[in-house]
Amino acid sequence: MTTADFAGRRAIVTGAAGGIGAALAAELISRGAAVVLADLSPSVTDTASALNADAADGRNVAAGLDSGATPDSRAHAWVGDVSSVADIDDLIAFADEAIDGVDMYFANAGIIGPGDLGDSDADWDTIIDVNLRAHIRAAQVLIPRWQEAGDGYFVATASAAGLLTQIGSAAYSVTKHASVGFAEWLALTYRDDGIRASVICPMGVDTDLLRAAGTSGTAQRAVTDAGQVLSPGDVATIALDAVQAGEFLILPHPEVLDMYRMKGSDYDRWLAGMSRYQARLNEQNRANEETTHAGND
Ligand SMILES: NC(=O)c1ccc[n+]([C@@H]2O[C@H](COP(=O)([O-])OP(=O)(O)OC[C@H]3O[C@@H](n4cnc5c(N)ncnc54)[C@H](O)[C@@H]3O)[C@@H](O)[C@H]2O)c1
Repeated sequence: MTTADFAGRRAIVTGAAGGIGAALAAELISRGAAVVLADLSPSVTDTASALNADAADGRNVAAGLDSGATPDSRAHAWVGDVSSVADIDDLIAFADEAIDGVDMYFANAGIIGPGDLGDSDADWDTIIDVNLRAHIRAAQVLIPRWQEAGDGYFVATASAAGLLTQIGSAAYSVTKHASVGFAEWLALTYRDDGIRASVICPMGVDTDLLRAAGTSGTAQRAVTDAGQVLSPGDVATIALDAVQAGEFLILPHPEVLDMYRMKGSDYDRWLAGMSRYQARLNEQNRANEETTHAGND
């Protein structure tokens, strides 16, 4: 697949119960793809049903059909753990059955993980499994199939934290860097086999994950202060336009490119600037906490 034409394509989107994954699935369906929405959360079933209802409405209007007609549904829900080898096998077998194969895999499921250094190996194992190994394990199943077909597209949702850093979370920073590195390696290694890869690297997006980062005030503030918080729908549109054009690095916040260039051109200056930024955020957090405590006295 050099440039992706989505009509008739068969895609899996992981982490699709809500947030960016649900928006990617909706946008894929609106562009004519059949999609398996995968998530740990059983609510992914409701997400898929809602997408089918929306798609049916759209087609009925377009075709002048009475509402109540039942065109083929194009969203299918699968519930499981996309970081587990056994579940990935099950997910891909499910897609083979439900949508007759997999041309595109959106490795989007992710977690914010522990703040700061993390307290235990278990903390790190979980986030490495979800944010990185899930991608490797899916690719190990799909790449040989795609080599045989001469076609396939792997899209990872990493983060701007995978190019820059995530203040307040070592595990998120490290796993997102690794996710960018893995996608980059896929993109250059299998290009001649007709396989493409892209990586989506947003800053703030208005989802549950960003809200969950609120448990570590500095991490959340670092994201929301750094730039505009985009809607998942905006990110999905930008991402699929870029995939359509076959672009590797997808930056929904274009200013990330300037920050990345600045980091690459003078690493020490960038580190010093980030360290000052972190000190400022810590100071603001302390001031906020003092105000809150004073208000409670
Ligand atoms: N929201 C942001 O500001 C932001 C910014 C940059 C990157 N991202 C990345 O975008 C991706 C999507 O996150 P989101 O912001 O939409 O958050 P979200 O919490 O709405 O979505 C993540 C989904 O992944 C699912 N999930 C987690 N672990 C899973 C597993 N093992 N198996 C199956 N499903 C699993 C969750 O149930 C959830 O539905 C993540 O990789 C995240 O790191 C988010």
